[in-house]
Amino acid sequence: MTAASASNSEPARQRWPWWPLLPLYPYGRRRTLVRELIPNQLWSFEQLQGLFYVAVPIRMTVVRLRQGLMLYAPLPPTAELLSALRELEATYGPVRTIVLPTASGLEHKLPAPALARACPQAELWVTPRQWSFPLRLPQSWLGFPASRTRVLFEQGLPHGDELLWRALGPLNLGLGTFMEVACLHRASGSLLVTDALVAIGTDPPPVFNADPTPLLFHARDRGDQPLEDTPEQRRRGWWRLVLFASYLQPAPLSVAGLREVLRHAFAPGLRRPRSHFGLYPFRWHPNWEQAFVELVAEDAPRPQVAPVLERLVFPRCRAALVSWIRSLAELDETRWLVPAHYEAPVPCTPERLSRLADELEQRPWAPDQGNWSTLAGIDRTLVKLGLVPAEPAP
Ligand SMILES: [Fe+2]
Repeated sequence: MTAASASNSEPARQRWPWWPLLPLYPYGRRRTLVRELIPNQLWSFEQLQGLFYVAVPIRMTVVRLRQGLMLYAPLPPTAELLSALRELEATYGPVRTIVLPTASGLEHKLPAPALARACPQAELWVTPRQWSFPLRLPQSWLGFPASRTRVLFEQGLPHGDELLWRALGPLNLGLGTFMEVACLHRASGSLLVTDALVAIGTDPPPVFNADPTPLLFHARDRGDQPLEDTPEQRRRGWWRLVLFASYLQPAPLSVAGLREVLRHAFAPGLRRPRSHFGLYPFRWHPNWEQAFVELVAEDAPRPQVAPVLERLVFPRCRAALVSWIRSLAELDETRWLVPAHYEAPVPCTPERLSRLADELEQRPWAPDQGNWSTLAGIDRTLVKLGLVPAEPAP
């Protein structure tokens, strides 16, 4: 193999050298799945992101505008991603606008400077109140190109005739500011959101098809069981990944003791990194599936608030969230919801969003019990340490 062909190999084209900034699975190798969501108008670029195989899809949405393309919620611009983007540019015009629609979502922020460098004709529009945790660095230190970076709302809004913008926040989280900016693409009726709303399907998303290892890893009950690839195992693994990502430790999950983990580790055939050498420190209780069914209703995927956000980000900000959802429900051209994680596009109407706002107002908010108890414990600790305010800031 020549050097040139080696550098054009699949792993090389999927390389993301900045992964140590946010060391999440799959680390330095990011496959990108490109799907056309709405013909000739909207495309989804998806990668996986997570910790120890708890991986969920993260999405950049590409929107066709009259003057070219807009990228909403940046992804790491691997060679593979850029070549797919260049193909769209050849047909629909250059990337004119990149939008960083969140003030706090590091996973969307860290790739923004590299993506902006890869699209030199684009203006980078960022949410106000950008903050970096744990260090507070000026934006230019974070690599944002000063000459073509603009702040949404403070310096205007891009493509106002084709797009409508609605901000949630800023909300004071103590550790920083939460702010997210939704965008309605009027031509396609697509409402783009980032983290505040998601829709979760009962089947694993197609981004896992290239490598279902994270699903198969979690589909097992013990570390000495082989990774078996069947549609049932993929689905079982997906349900567990969703529960991990939603609640960190849902009620029907125990963390196994070290002795038990080691007893099942290093089984023949599993002594390799892919199966984490047979180390599997989790024990799922009987009927664990019920927790998934409670979270993801039968008519899934439907718009909902991710539990981890409800309990850790918005526990004292329900009113702000509900009024933002009501402001989205006033956008009467909405036909689809396109969040930056999980499923997209999801059928969505203004009525559906109003109903969601009503539901959120009426049901118990940010509970402490059952599946929520781990999240509630983290929140209590953060409040006790004074890291997050006990009451929302006015
Ligand atoms: Fe996110």
